[in-house]
Amino acid sequence: MAPAEPNHKPFEAQGELPVFEEEREGWKGYIEWERYPEKKKKAAEIMAKYDFPVPPEFQFIPLPKTNPVLEGVRWKHYHYAMGPTLSDIPDISWKYVLKEKSEDMIHVLQFPYNGEPPRKRLTEITNNPDFFVRNHGGIPEIDPSKYFFEVEGLVKNPKKITLDMLKDESIFPRQSTVVSLQCSGTRRIEQIHEYPGDGDELINAPWGEGAIGTARWTGVSLKKVIKYCGGLKDNGAHLEFFGADTYFKKGQVYNYAVSVPARKMKVNEVLLAWEMNGEPLPAIHGFPLRVVVMGYIGARSCKWLTRINVIADPSMAPVQMKEYLYYTPQMGKQNVTYSNGFSIQTMPVSSAIMTPVNNDVIIHDGKITFTGWAYSGSGWPERVEVSNDGGGVWYEVPNENLSKKYFHAWRTWSFECPVDAEGWLEFCVRCWDDALNTQPTYVRSAWNWDLHVTSSCHRVKLYSVNRSKPLTAKRLKQFEDRGQPFLPLTRPVPFDLETDEDYIKEMTKRDGRDPTE
Ligand code: MTE
Repeated sequence: MAPAEPNHKPFEAQGELPVFEEEREGWKGYIEWERYPEKKKKAAEIMAKYDFPVPPEFQFIPLPKTNPVLEGVRWKHYHYAMGPTLSDIPDISWKYVLKEKSEDMIHVLQFPYNGEPPRKRLTEITNNPDFFVRNHGGIPEIDPSKYFFEVEGLVKNPKKITLDMLKDESIFPRQSTVVSLQCSGTRRIEQIHEYPGDGDELINAPWGEGAIGTARWTGVSLKKVIKYCGGLKDNGAHLEFFGADTYFKKGQVYNYAVSVPARKMKVNEVLLAWEMNGEPLPAIHGFPLRVVVMGYIGARSCKWLTRINVIADPSMAPVQMKEYLYYTPQMGKQNVTYSNGFSIQTMPVSSAIMTPVNNDVIIHDGKITFTGWAYSGSGWPERVEVSNDGGGVWYEVPNENLSKKYFHAWRTWSFECPVDAEGWLEFCVRCWDDALNTQPTYVRSAWNWDLHVTSSCHRVKLYSVNRSKPLTAKRLKQFEDRGQPFLPLTRPVPFDLETDEDYIKEMTKRDGRDPTE
């Protein structure tokens, strides 16, 4: 299990624990809150009795070098306080992490589970076990034979639709599309390192470059489902999606809920998917059915879908209205409101170097090979450029080194960058999309209080050891001849740097240490 956080204290029930019934047979962990205001009120009253552990500080002090990095004690206690229906959800969710995710996944937050793959695992299509996970709550266990979702609100014929119906090609044509999902927290760690920001109740997870992945998703376009329900009616203009998981915010209890404008559905950019890379969705990614919204922030791609509600205005559920907001750099704890930040929907142009990683020491012969990804939510990456001097000189990644172009997915890339200089160098990458959008150069240019969408050029500092330089080749050979390792860089050289004879010869050439007159 995760290391204890400094704020850890054992859970102590305040009075008798409540029993909130599961909503549907065969749906473990699904309590419906949104349809029952009285139940929500009761849950809020229970929450108010507790003095929950505060979220840990991890921005002004270094992150623990543990895996899981953070435990999420506060969120576990929220679930325990809701009684037996949810108290085993933290353990069940962790069981799915161990079952469905790669062994060496970086577990950024244990509960709710947030994890990203090791950088070297970058491929054009991400393997399911390596796909990042961002959860706001626990993982429900849903029997697919008992599964259905409802379509209601401003739609002509509200309906209940089972998985079998959705898979019936005589009713719904099938769609299979390669789509990248990106969490707006991708690369947040860079903002944290320079200027800490909002911790957020759910812990604004300190993601690296891996909170993005690409899969082939198969299912039915939401447009077809809305058509099956007779189309939108009246002023229906937004589609609200509800998940089966329980979500907590500021002492209130909800189901996870978000919305997208109906025009996104009308252009076939919203998919209801049951398959991920040719396999049934893993439980952790929304089994048996999730939403996949193309080009938008991952938050809108609701997992464990229970209901689609057609509404006139964007959802006022907290994930939509109160989170994933983008503020100007002068906004912060002192002045942010929900309305003075804009809602993150379409993802901007961004990119990252996945290998080598920051602080690597690279021994090379004048070229260093880089790999990474590039993405644009509103278009596709047209050009990727790498700089070997922190953003002054840029080299174009040849087109043949970019993976296939898709309307809604990243392009992975590799590049042999010319490197003459030695010592600590700063490399960075930027992407240009088809509409000529590119990225801000520095983190500070796009810093924002909630630490979302780190779209500035991704930078890695590497220590360059260029073997094509005679002195460097000689030093490396000295290590080799002695059978001693050059690394770690900071370990002192265990032999003399120069013989006395060589020193005297050099000093004579250099006219000695001091001037003669
Ligand atoms: N859907 C539900 N029901 N609950 C969640 O916590 N997280 C969202 C979205 N859908 C979430 C959800 C967020 S913020 C992201 S980035 C994506 O799921 C991540 O999808 P993945 O975990 O399958 O990679």
